[in-house]
Amino acid sequence: MKNTLEPARTVTAVAGPSLALTKYWGKHCEGINRPATPSLGVTLSTFQSTACVTLTDGQPRITVNKVPQPLDRFQPFLDEATRVLGPRRFDAVCTNNFPTAAGLASSSSGFAALATAATALSGRFLTQAEISALARVGSGSAARAVYHGFTEFPAGAEYAEPLYGPDHWPDLRIVACLVDHGPKAVSSRQGMARVQATSPYFKRWVEDAEGLHREALAALAARDLAKLGDIMRLSYLRMFSTQFSASPPLVYWQPTSVQIIQHVDGLRRRGLGVWETMDAGPQVKLICLDTDTDAVIASLQDQIPSLQTVVTTVGNGPCVSTSPRD
Ligand code: PMV
Repeated sequence: MKNTLEPARTVTAVAGPSLALTKYWGKHCEGINRPATPSLGVTLSTFQSTACVTLTDGQPRITVNKVPQPLDRFQPFLDEATRVLGPRRFDAVCTNNFPTAAGLASSSSGFAALATAATALSGRFLTQAEISALARVGSGSAARAVYHGFTEFPAGAEYAEPLYGPDHWPDLRIVACLVDHGPKAVSSRQGMARVQATSPYFKRWVEDAEGLHREALAALAARDLAKLGDIMRLSYLRMFSTQFSASPPLVYWQPTSVQIIQHVDGLRRRGLGVWETMDAGPQVKLICLDTDTDAVIASLQDQIPSLQTVVTTVGNGPCVSTSPRD
């Protein structure tokens, strides 16, 4: 079967970030951004990264939120795109409708949108797994964000796999608590490298992650929020244990992050079904059911009046639009 379609002139792809319920933290010894630990992701609605790509004959130019990007950050992705999609180069204009590089997984949605758009622009046919593998070279978590719903990225894998669509858990809500809009000082890429090189607990974290992940898969299959919430907490807190024990230590948390963690703990003790997770940044993300969301937000805002919260659902995954050729 012919696998080359007529290349389009401009393609726009929109993708939502993949929040990790169990964490990818650390690189496998082989390949680019292959994970040392398995992760379970949920693609979010509401937060969006948009990548608009156009063919060019010159040196590719990439902007994120109008800021030109140094190409060395994108070079492995561009090289992989050339390998799997062919030699045509493209310019990319990328934007995020939420804080960038602040611990809200903007690199997952950014590279998922870029890989999806570049594939459509090239006119080549790639399977979703191949698009996932391409996105992974830009950012490991992006391998998950090319799909809708819930996804799994096994340890050592080249691509993530879809598990369930958004209809598996329509009343699940993910509440992002925006503690700080600024970019983090240490990227997750740098953070992982530092932890892997210096934390005495890294090896133990990797050994432990598989069992935790398997329990999370079972809890997700059963839509058991309390079980999934408890495992999600263990996963992020064990990940942070490797960060605190790195040299020099990595501390992404801010006082407001801790205030939210403690407040959510209190809400649970009062019977509300809400659990938190964090990534490489100060933001705290909560999972709860639709029926509890208003009470959770009202209580948090009572405690921290300046706190901005964004409610999201399980997202539909990337969508693509193509402009006709002249
Ligand atoms: O894909 P990266 O390089 O942005 O790393 C993601 C790392 C975490 O967000 C902390 C965990 C994850 O699985 O998304």
